Amino acid sequence: MLSANNPYGNVVLLTGASSGIGRSTAILLAKNGFRVYGTARNVGENEDYQNGFIHMIKMDVCSDSSVLEAVTQVLNIEGKIDILINAAGMGISGAVEECSAQDAFNQFNTNYFGIIRTIGAVLPLMRKARNGLIINISSVGGIFSIPFQTLYSSSKFALEALTEGLRIEIAPFNVKATLIEPGDIKTGFTKARIFSYKSDDSVYGERFHAAIAQMEYDEQNGKPPETIANAIMRVIRKKNPPIRTVVGAMYKAFVFFKRIMPSRLVEFVMTQMYPNSKKKSVRDV
Ligand SMILES: NC(=O)c1ccc[n+]([C@@H]2O[C@H](COP(=O)([O-])OP(=O)(O)OC[C@H]3O[C@@H](n4cnc5c(N)ncnc54)[C@H](OP(=O)(O)O)[C@@H]3O)[C@@H](O)[C@H]2O)c1
Repeated sequence: MLSANNPYGNVVLLTGASSGIGRSTAILLAKNGFRVYGTARNVGENEDYQNGFIHMIKMDVCSDSSVLEAVTQVLNIEGKIDILINAAGMGISGAVEECSAQDAFNQFNTNYFGIIRTIGAVLPLMRKARNGLIINISSVGGIFSIPFQTLYSSSKFALEALTEGLRIEIAPFNVKATLIEPGDIKTGFTKARIFSYKSDDSVYGERFHAAIAQMEYDEQNGKPPETIANAIMRVIRKKNPPIRTVVGAMYKAFVFFKRIMPSRLVEFVMTQMYPNSKKKSVRDV
């Protein structure tokens, strides 16, 4: 179904639908009549709303075959996917020196290669249909590199580049791609964070703990995930979605600040905000 409110259609494939931003988005879309195929490794019950629904499918974005199987399931039911929302993601924290190449691969495997996999499976169909929207959930951490969460920021910087280039490649086929850049949001992300911190003897110990304490404080005192779901809904209603949507006035100001301020000043502010933060660690890592 195409409508003025929704130029793409109502069949949505949404990764990361079991928690946080993905879950809130699934509920909002289903309540608005979308047929949401939500995916995650841990799937709960299907849910029916007045006109729409959430149908959960098990999928690990780190597995080629799992992604292909999930996409095939949706196609067997619907014959098409109008909107792909890539919300699955997680964060690995640690000093770069104490992260292995395997840690970096694991970070990229979920946040970047996972999106390569879903796009690879869905884009050929959208291209043939000459219709589609791909929404990639990036982060303000994809604009500012967050110290001691540098692998995560790297994966989001890469996602920014991916989406910018992809938009140009797919434009002739009437398929759109767009980035959503949340700031700190209160979700399961904090609890799911993986640490590559090695030992209490680490030369980074105090500054690492300070940076993590600040991040966890900001996330747990952040806006609810519904704010991002609302931003996603607004983008879905746009025929020509923007390249990026920063969500929230404060984060918009931060991003503007980065654009106009000298890089060394931005670096000074990041240093004060994270490794020099006075927040107490909220957990033992
Ligand atoms: N929370 C924040 O402050 C914040 C800020 C900026 C950007 N973001 C981004 O927003 C997105 C959603 O995160 P969130 O905050 O909503 O975190 P969340 O509550 O932890 O949700 C993460 C979702 O991703 C899924 N997931 C993780 N690894 C997966 C895998 N290998 N295969 C399939 N699904 C996987 C999880 O489901 P299963 O574990 O069941 O698989 C879960 O549904 C992420 O891309 C994150 O980087 C979050």
